[in-house]
Amino acid sequence: MSPSAARMLGASRQEPTDSTPVWFMRQAGRSLPEYRLLRQRMTLLEMVRDPAVCCQVTCMPVELLGVDAAVLFADIMLPLEGMGVPFQMEDGVGPVVTDPIRTEDQIDALRVVAAEEATPYLFEGIRLARRELGGRAALIGFGPSPFTLACYLVEGRGSRDFPHVRALMYAQPSLWSRLMRTLTEVLSRYLLAQVDSGAQLVQVFDSWAGVLDEHSYRESVAPHLSKLFGDLRTAAPAIYFSTGSPHLLGAIAEIGAPGISVDWRLPLREAWSRVGPDFFLQGNLDPALVLSRWEDLERGARAVLKGAGGQPGHIFNLGHGVLPDSDPSQLRRLVEFVHEFSGEYRAPARDRGPV
Ligand code: CP3
Repeated sequence: MSPSAARMLGASRQEPTDSTPVWFMRQAGRSLPEYRLLRQRMTLLEMVRDPAVCCQVTCMPVELLGVDAAVLFADIMLPLEGMGVPFQMEDGVGPVVTDPIRTEDQIDALRVVAAEEATPYLFEGIRLARRELGGRAALIGFGPSPFTLACYLVEGRGSRDFPHVRALMYAQPSLWSRLMRTLTEVLSRYLLAQVDSGAQLVQVFDSWAGVLDEHSYRESVAPHLSKLFGDLRTAAPAIYFSTGSPHLLGAIAEIGAPGISVDWRLPLREAWSRVGPDFFLQGNLDPALVLSRWEDLERGARAVLKGAGGQPGHIFNLGHGVLPDSDPSQLRRLVEFVHEFSGEYRAPARDRGPV
């Protein structure tokens, strides 16, 4: 195994590593000219549905940026392929569900099929990418959380605070829980099939969890996440991502995800003290710093590494995805800096005695 893959997997087991592993959410997107070139002649979904292109884009950031992990090139909407729900990806908007799912009949009509049957091309893309990487970097699979997928299904598209989703959850709790159970079943199969195809870690994106209050999250969302992470427990290390959710951290610590991704609003040191020592943490540089001068970016990166305190079990990342205007050379320099500076920083940690 390469140092990169060993770093990622070691950190996910909270073992000491030679330096802090680093990758970026949305590292394989519009910030890369090589991606934009391909994208000129194919739509996003055409790219995802072609295993050779999927593999090529998945592996691209490993060469270009030097990151320790490749993340599967797909979108959080892909699990809908097998459920019989038509959707499109609109430029500049994101996913749009043609006919939002809000009634009992629509929820009952959602299909649960074998993942390999729903998106065979995706699992082929994973197998190709794993072979292509040859261990040079770890391969991360991903999917949406049941809640975040429900957000797009019910609202029909992105929204500031998803009022129709919250209304369904409050007004029809048993219908809501049926919807969540169906989505959890689909996502469990989807993520386990990614691991079977070669994904070495998986990340669950709960991008919109932050719109919920803690009570609703605990009552209507967390039980389904516990089921999902329970299913994944013996398959691969799993990371739970959410944003705008510091008020949910106590509840998040109870859903059974071994890894928690933290956005830039909460210092890692504080996050760790709130969830306790049994988790690996990912994050949490403000993505907007990548658009700033190198001096600002370096100061921010240093603060993140210091906040992690050289503790085993930190995966460096941004607090959310790479912004499309980001300069890849800044990202590349950031990767080099994290690798170098984390080693330098870790030296005094020997005084802490056995870990
Ligand atoms: O390197 C990678 O991370 C690429 C793989 C990836 C994509 N989407 C491809 C994509 C990943 C991990 C995602 C996750 C995703 N998709 C999330 C969760 C992460 C987050 O940001 O919170 C969400 C909410 C989506 C839904 C989605 N897809 C949105 C909101 C958009 C943006 C619309 C826009 O144009 O700004 C998309 C489109 C999308 N998915 C792109 C990529 C590379 C945009 C570029 C393009 O159309 O070529």
